[in-house]
Amino acid sequence: MSKDQHEAAFGARAADYALSQVHVSDDSLEMIKGLLGAASSPSQWAIDLGTGAGFNAFNMAGLDYRTVATDLAGPMLRETQRIGDERGLTNLALCQNSAESLPFANGSLDIVGSRMAAHHFGDYQAVITEAHRVLKVGGALLIADSVAPEDSSVRDWMEEIELRRDYSHIENRKASAIQELVAERGLDMVDRVHTSIHLKFNGWVARTAIPKAEAESLRRDFLNAPAAVKEAFEIEEVDDDIHFAWPCLVFRAVKA
Ligand SMILES: C[S@@+](CC[C@H](N)C(=O)[O-])C[C@H]1O[C@@H](n2cnc3c(N)ncnc32)[C@H](O)[C@@H]1O
Repeated sequence: MSKDQHEAAFGARAADYALSQVHVSDDSLEMIKGLLGAASSPSQWAIDLGTGAGFNAFNMAGLDYRTVATDLAGPMLRETQRIGDERGLTNLALCQNSAESLPFANGSLDIVGSRMAAHHFGDYQAVITEAHRVLKVGGALLIADSVAPEDSSVRDWMEEIELRRDYSHIENRKASAIQELVAERGLDMVDRVHTSIHLKFNGWVARTAIPKAEAESLRRDFLNAPAAVKEAFEIEEVDDDIHFAWPCLVFRAVKA
């Protein structure tokens, strides 16, 4: 996807992401906060990749890191600025760049973070390589994102559904594949927590504004999913909605 296509896809959704309950607050934000801990000095730097409306960056700024919220889409950064101002954050800056190419010097940052964005990154390996480059020795990469189950048939169902619902979706990777990649790039995964991202079907399809017929077809596929899929994703019909949960991995990997 070109930068212009990216802006068009994500720009149109910026206001929705700012209001989306699962983005504003969920377990992963609290887990990240626990793994990050407060900055040990006021000169520690953190960046957030694919910041969207900024909620992970606000986490970092709230822990007293000098924080740079980064995203490829300008409209997303404008939402981050607006909400950051409303929250009175003075240690938050913005930068428009791709996660695969970071405009920061080698060994200059204490934390590189990202939440609910890595499944959109076109080149995950490049992102990890860049994170390793910009981190100081002892600095940490901290990512929370949806992951695919290890069972390949359940994974295939998830990926097919994700791609029909969101054409900016790239891949939910298996936790085992992420762990390998991070280790190959010289980062030591010292913390790893599994949690879930709880979603409600109606709001989830509304966020990507897919045609009504596709949304109805997806609804049928959720309700008629194989038992193993329903169990893996906790699929449950509730009133006129469907509740489900994507597996989520939160990890902290340190540069040796
Ligand atoms: C779901 S939103 C992020 C949610 C946000 N991090 C949060 O915690 O609420 C995904 C964001 O990733 C951004 N994005 C996708 N691919 C990107 C890339 N390769 N580089 C930088 N940003 C990217 C999109 O523009 C979008 O703002």
